[in-house]
Amino acid sequence: MVQVTLRRSEVNAILRNASDFFSSFGDFLPPQSKWSVEEWRARKAEMGPAIKGGVGWDVFKPSPDFAKEGLTLYTLTNGYPGSYQVYAEKLLMATPGQVTPMHYHAIKQEDIICAGGANMHIELYWAAGERQLGDKPVEVVISGAVKTVKPGEELALRPGERITLAPKMFHRFWADPDADGPAFIREVSMVNDDATDNYFLDELGRFAEVIEDEPILWPLCSDYKRSGIG
Ligand SMILES: [Fe+2]
Repeated sequence: MVQVTLRRSEVNAILRNASDFFSSFGDFLPPQSKWSVEEWRARKAEMGPAIKGGVGWDVFKPSPDFAKEGLTLYTLTNGYPGSYQVYAEKLLMATPGQVTPMHYHAIKQEDIICAGGANMHIELYWAAGERQLGDKPVEVVISGAVKTVKPGEELALRPGERITLAPKMFHRFWADPDADGPAFIREVSMVNDDATDNYFLDELGRFAEVIEDEPILWPLCSDYKRSGIG
């Protein structure tokens, strides 16, 4: 597996951009999305549920070209082992043509919602194994309606539409490459552990190594432990 790196200056620029983008659709981000590391450290006792649930910023860079493969996320709420919470919610930003690589979840069920901006394209397969795409048709629910699709058939969702994915359903999605701006995507799901419940078709790391070339603007959820927050 290639160890992908992410410079802090790149993270800071991505988060500034994503914050502006999400805010252009309404007040989706909570105040702590703009807390510094110092502010997080000062409030870490009360912020236990957020820290343990990985609530906060997340930049997924699975390969060196982030414009081609990757996703910017803000986890709004999530549970953790031992918590009573069973659901999670995330905001996602995909720039035109940026692909979230083929993966499935063994446990998590999720609705992926095209919420605004560019159309979202997605293709599905049943998992025939951990690294194997199935060849059977996929029955899926789109905005409450059942639809049977061929394995790998490309579906396009317009803003307002959602797709309800089952566990072990391989999915790959991207924002329309011809769009003039990113896709605003929301995810509503079961509680989710990104460190253990992502099965990628290709061998990919979920969290890139961060090279500190400038101060942290807003910490990523993967920074909490190493920054003395969690
Ligand atoms: Fe997923």
